Amino acid sequence: MLNFEYQNPTKILFGKGQIQSIAREVPAGAKVMLTYGGGSIRANGVHAQVLAALSACTVIEFGGIEPNPEYATLMRAVEIARAEKVDLLLAVGGGSVLDGTKFIAAAIPFAGDPWDILAKGGKVRSAVPLASVLTLAATGSESNSFAVVSRRELDLKLAFSSPHVYPKFAVLDPETTFSLPPRQVANGVVDAFVHTMEQYMTFPAQAELNDRFAESILQTLVEVGPTTLAEPTNYNARATMVWSATLALNGLIGCGVPQDWATHMIGHELTALYNIDHARTLATVLPHLLRVQAAGKREKLLQFADRVWGIRDGSEDERIEAGIAKMEAFFEAMGLPTRLARYDNVAPGTPALVAARLESRGMAKLGERGDILPQTVTEILTRSLAA
Ligand code: NZQ
Ligand code: ZN
Repeated sequence: MLNFEYQNPTKILFGKGQIQSIAREVPAGAKVMLTYGGGSIRANGVHAQVLAALSACTVIEFGGIEPNPEYATLMRAVEIARAEKVDLLLAVGGGSVLDGTKFIAAAIPFAGDPWDILAKGGKVRSAVPLASVLTLAATGSESNSFAVVSRRELDLKLAFSSPHVYPKFAVLDPETTFSLPPRQVANGVVDAFVHTMEQYMTFPAQAELNDRFAESILQTLVEVGPTTLAEPTNYNARATMVWSATLALNGLIGCGVPQDWATHMIGHELTALYNIDHARTLATVLPHLLRVQAAGKREKLLQFADRVWGIRDGSEDERIEAGIAKMEAFFEAMGLPTRLARYDNVAPGTPALVAARLESRGMAKLGERGDILPQTVTEILTRSLAA
């Protein structure tokens, strides 16, 4: 097992009716900026519940944070929050609202140009406290230190991380997700699956417990994914999915193990270029990446086939391929295409373009061994683009 440090300060408030608990967590009289997206929280009643819980506070609302949150929008919130001197940012929505709010929180006290936080790795020394009410389980953003922000005028989608932007608390009431369209439910299941794979599908590090944490999340998602898609108001299925997504990326399963994350880096480029939903990009990359990188991931691919899918017959190569094919079939069954060729707007030159864009930003060596080179990225995407 590799050395690690682990501290996750986010308090989780899980279950039905937990929005009310916000009243206990936020001091009376606090000035709260409520951040949200395009209006789903008004339609499903979450907005009204949150306002009721904040009745002892002064609330300033900032709506309109887009999926793949836009830098210019977030900077408007930064200006308002600075002028109003807010005490707390409360993000109510999915990963985009959360990520956007993390950026707002870090940008408010940032001394230089806030764009540097994303583009130049500018150090975040402090942030305005933030918390969240999660309405879409997928990213794990509700209890992690990461955020991804887009700047469409530059075709860029960039990430940052800081311990200062862990939410203070996160309300996870599965019922708030009942109103999600099926596409977003499916996206969430696949995103959580791929987060787990990024921290599991590398090489053995004698981290037995972490391997089994990861395998249990993968198996649970395979089991519960189709149910929660078909039965959106089945509380226990949705609760299991929500909790799986949080645990997939709250730092726990990544302790002591090598990590990959190349699928995500490639996927972010595809979103920046073609506006494909985050999880959908991952589904078009991971199967091909696993085949191209099968030599370096061989032992874990065999373990994945055996423990996650119960594949025990055939030669090693056959079992590896069968495991990857099972995963592909699962993504497809959830409605996520596993070929970039299925997206009409993706240009033929995309594989080399994505490789060059990553290289130009210092990502010429991706993956747990640093052996996913520009030509490897090109190969992965060329396979995905082949019909
Ligand atoms: O904007 P509203 O009206 O709220 O609608 C949203 C949005 O259109 C809707 N929605 C959310 N909750 C709903 C709902 N509709 C009905 N009922 C509800 N309860 O869903 C749409 C998509 O929301 P979004 O927040 O964009 O989805 P998701 O949670 O998948 O977040 C994706 C973003 O997170 C980033 C992605 O790159 C992408 O920008 N990620 C963040 C990570 C992190 N912070 O750790 C890790 C991930 O790998 C990922 O990169
Ligand atoms: Zn993701």
